[in-house]
This record gives sequence, C-alpha cells and structure tokens, in this order.
Amino acid sequence: MQKTVVSQEQIAHQYEYMQFIARMNAQKAEVCGHKLRAFTQTFGCQQNEADTQRIAGMLDEMGYEKAESAQQADVIVINTCAVREHAESRALGNVGALSHLKKARPDVTICLCGCMVQQEHMPEKIKKSYPQVDIVFGTHALWRFPELLYRRLTGDKRVFDTSGDAAGYIAEGLPILRDGGTKAWLSIMYGCNNFCTYCIVPYVRGRERSRDPQQIVHELEQLVAEGYKDITLLGQNVNSYGKDLDTPIDFSDLLVRLNAVPGDFLLRFMTSHPKDASHKLFDTMAACDKVAKQLHLPFQSGSDTILKRMNRGYTATHYRELIAYARGKMPDLTLSSDIIVGFPGETEQDFEQTRALVDEIGFDMLYTFLYSKRSGTPAASMPDDTPHEVKQERFERLLRTQDERVQARQDAYAGKCLRVLVDGTSKGTEYPLTARTEGGLLVCCAGDGLKIGEFAQVRIEKTSLRCLFGRSV
Ligand code: 5AD
Ligand code: SF4
Repeated sequence: MQKTVVSQEQIAHQYEYMQFIARMNAQKAEVCGHKLRAFTQTFGCQQNEADTQRIAGMLDEMGYEKAESAQQADVIVINTCAVREHAESRALGNVGALSHLKKARPDVTICLCGCMVQQEHMPEKIKKSYPQVDIVFGTHALWRFPELLYRRLTGDKRVFDTSGDAAGYIAEGLPILRDGGTKAWLSIMYGCNNFCTYCIVPYVRGRERSRDPQQIVHELEQLVAEGYKDITLLGQNVNSYGKDLDTPIDFSDLLVRLNAVPGDFLLRFMTSHPKDASHKLFDTMAACDKVAKQLHLPFQSGSDTILKRMNRGYTATHYRELIAYARGKMPDLTLSSDIIVGFPGETEQDFEQTRALVDEIGFDMLYTFLYSKRSGTPAASMPDDTPHEVKQERFERLLRTQDERVQARQDAYAGKCLRVLVDGTSKGTEYPLTARTEGGLLVCCAGDGLKIGEFAQVRIEKTSLRCLFGRSV
C-alpha cells in the first residue's frame, strides 16, 4: 500500500509561510494596538478536534491569539464534519450567518475546512452559494494551511484546495496547540479502509496510514512531560494500526511500548472495529497498567442481515464472543458502542435484534444515531422505505432500553471505591469537583486531598443516570 509522508522540506516551506505571516501580523498589531486574533470552531469527532488543535498550533505560530468569538476574529476557521446531514447543515448555517460579518469587515478571512468540504460536490456549492468564504481546504490539505492563508493574504482571490491523493498524507513536525488541562488527543493513524456502506469517511479522509511508532512514543513522552494525564490514542480504526508499516508492529505491540513510557498517566484509545479487535488486544489491555480498562467497540446493528448490508465483516455472535472474552480478562471493563437506527431496509425484527443486544450486553455508554443518507456511499442507493416516524419511534425505544440498563449499572457502583482523575469543577456545591473513572465515567466528588490534575480514590455515595457522586477516602 502506498503511503505519502510529506517531506521535511515541504514542512520547512510551511514554516517559512508561517514566519512570513507572523512578521506581517506583528506589523499590523503595532498599528491596531493588539495581537491579531483567530477563532476556530469544530464539528464532528475527536479526530476533527485533534485536527483543529493542529490548525490552532499553526495559527499560534503565525502570531494569532485565540478569539472568544467570530465577531472579534481576524481569521475564522470552521472545521466541518460530513458523517451525518445534521452536522453539515449546522456548519453551513454558521457560515451563512457570517455573511453579515464579512460585509461589515471585508478584511476578515473566513476558512472552511475538514471532511464536509472534501466531498466531490462541495467546492462548487461553496463557490456559488457562500461567497463570504475565502479559503476552502480539505483534510488532505490541512498541513498546507499556512501556504493557503499566505496566498489569500497576499492577494489571491478565493483559495480552494480540496485536492489530494486518495492514499492520503502524513505530515510530521507541525505545531499543535492543545487546551492544557489533563486530557490530550494523540493521533496514531489517519484514514479508513473499511468502506462500511453508510459511511462517508473513507472518501473524505483517504486510506489508512499509520504514524511511525517512534514519533508516537516521542509525542507521548512530551505530553507526559507537559503534565497531561489522560491521553487518548486516535484513529478511525486503531486495530489496523501498523498494517501499512514496514516495521512489524500491531496495535497491541504499540500499546506495550507506550505503556512502558515512565510517568503517572492513563491511555485510552478509539475507535476499534469488531472485525479487527483481537484476543491479543484484550490480553494486552489487561496486562498494561496504564491502559484504561475502557473499550469503545461500535457494533452498529444486532441483525446479521443489516450487518452484511453495512459491509461490517462480523456477525452479532462474533461481537458477543468478543465482549465475553474482554470481560473475562477485565471484569471492570467500561464498554461503549455506536448504533445506527433506521438503516435502509431495517425491519422491526432487525431492530428488535439490535435492542435485544443492547439489553443483553449492558453498555455503560451508547452513541445512537438515526441513519443519515450520504451521497456517494453504496447505502445511498439502497431502497429505504421505512417512514421517518417509525425510525424515530425505534430510536426512542432503544434509548429507553439503554437508560434502564445504565441506571442499573450506575446503581451497582454505590458503595464501591474507584480510582479517578480529578479534572475540573462542577456546578453543584455538595460535590464541587468533577473527575473521570478509569473507564471514563463522570464522577462529581468532594472531600479532602482532591486536586485537579491528580489521581485519587473515592467511595461512591450515590448515583444518577449520568453521574456518580463520590467522596475521597
Ligand atoms: N448515518 C448515521 N450514522 C452514521 N455514522 C457513520 N455514518 C453514518 C450515517 N451515514 C455513525 C456510526 C459511526 C459513528 C462515528 O457515526 O455509528 O460509528
Ligand atoms: Fe470525524 Fe467522520 Fe465527521 Fe470526518 S466525517 S469529522 S472523520 S466523524
């Protein structure tokens, strides 16, 4: 498989553009009496949040400080998602609302990037209907952002760069601006090869490509040195990490290497695919003390007929076996999943199989979505004659089942002692701090010796559907 690593020479060029813009901005700042400002907004998944942090890193390098709103900003970047129609309409709605701002301040630079713009029909649509947008760049062009901004600021008309080899790129060595705090994303691979029939991701993010393990270890060491304690490894399908590398390494081997990095931190990862999640992975999770006993394993549907039509490559029975094995190895495993309700042709019986699986397995968290038709995907041309109201009713039925299960699971934590990472403050006065369990569950907590950014032991005193309440022990 071909992989395109962006050369260090090309990265160096981007630094030159960044330095040039930084000098321009310093001069402008002298005239207007304050630093220039940039506002970013992100739709979609954690991958996209991580991408925005890369854009923020470049903006920082170019001398922009963070703006709290689009109104204050000299540069606005909207990083979009294409996975469902709803995310697209919200992004486009926000861009539409910026047309007044652009009329009042024509010198503001509006950038639209990410998955949505990478779709074939989008550049034309933006050209015609959203003249306020100055720069449009897809996921493949993210590393070229400084160059694109430079072109626009030095006189080019509107700049469009949604090209890109479907193989995709890996760009190392560009700056990342994280939020501080305790949590950090660490991308280990990009793209997806699975082509689930409903999903737009493989078309907009290109083929799977893994980062060099050395680079990942190095980035983790830096994060730990900076004080990050809760680090999530990101990839569309982390279980196929390493398949495209010359080094013989798989995701479990990578976990072992990362677990050996010195320091007090937790490693999580997402997303896993049941087709590629192996017993070796669960054995490794169980054996690595810094790897959180948390698994996000989307099953999408409990019906084998639907799974087949989704091109998922496993059956409901296989999924059950995986979970049984994982729970056997890690009795305290926190489990979450994604489900699509209303896939084309889903019958009442198919849906009931999904609901029964949810009831049987008992997930700690569930991300449930109504099917959204994405043009260009195989599912978009499958007959879909289930009325919207029927799909909506199924969706709500599923949520009811899940809520009952979650309440029972939450209640089971009462009286238990859990290790948590304190990560912020809560609105309540009785339990003024927030924390996460190793499995990622929310705990509001109180008591002596609790400090934001530090691990602690708490005893659970009461529970609700969304939160556990605990006191330090
Ligand atoms: N419609 C609804 N949900 C979708 N997802 C992906 N594509 C679609 C779609 N077309 C969901 C899947 C995936 C999650 C990130 O988004 O459940 O796991
Ligand atoms: Fe993330 Fe997929 Fe949305 Fe892109 S389309 S932001 S990869 S969820």
